[in-house]
Amino acid sequence: MSQNPGRKDPLVFGSPLIGEEEIDEVVATVRSGWLGTGPRVARLERAFAAYKGGGHALALSSCSAALHIAMLICEIEPGDEVITCPLTFAATAHAIVHAGATPVFADCDRRTMTIDPGRVRAAITPRTKAIIVIHFAGRPCEMDELSTIASEHQLKLIEDCAHAIETVYRGRKAGTIGDVGCFSFHVTKNVITGEGGMLLTAEQELCRPGEGPLAARYVTGRVGAISR
Ligand SMILES: Cc1ncc(COP(=O)(O)O)c(C=O)c1O
Repeated sequence: MSQNPGRKDPLVFGSPLIGEEEIDEVVATVRSGWLGTGPRVARLERAFAAYKGGGHALALSSCSAALHIAMLICEIEPGDEVITCPLTFAATAHAIVHAGATPVFADCDRRTMTIDPGRVRAAITPRTKAIIVIHFAGRPCEMDELSTIASEHQLKLIEDCAHAIETVYRGRKAGTIGDVGCFSFHVTKNVITGEGGMLLTAEQELCRPGEGPLAARYVTGRVGAISR
């Protein structure tokens, strides 16, 4: 049996490259006195949106938080159904449950390892409000077909991009195709901050603290979320 001719130095999962530049940034942050959300966070949000070619980025504590906020943005409520794929991390379905809705699983296509649009169609009921697709292991979902299904049935389309910061589907960057994109900076991901996440949406008012579901600091007309 032939030996695997792979690399000699194994690529360790969850062991990111941390160089002097990253260490200097952390030290500069601590020295700046901004230990909470400050100008560096705003710079990251701007850089992220620019990398994605537009939209509005909101830095959060995790991709799980971004998925939760996505449910609030899309007004998912108890009694609703949200279709998603079982080939994912539990956080995808947990966000649906946290919103009081019911996750409905549409399995993946064995060829693409991403959600099967035919199975999504078959899972739609009068209670379906949204679809969360997962660009699993960086492989893009069949977004043309999924976008068609979502617009035909007036469903929100959320992209779980935890594995897919660099993923491109037919010239469009992951997270910019559906209504909301959710990203992870957890230590096992492609770009890391230790823990962290990002939400990306074209709708500016949805991700502006004080006006969207994040609500105002002191006076608020609706329940907010603590996800920074
Ligand atoms: C597909 C997928 N979605 C969401 C998450 C949650 O990411 P986070 O740990 O940033 O909350 C993960 C984490 O592994 C994931 O793999």
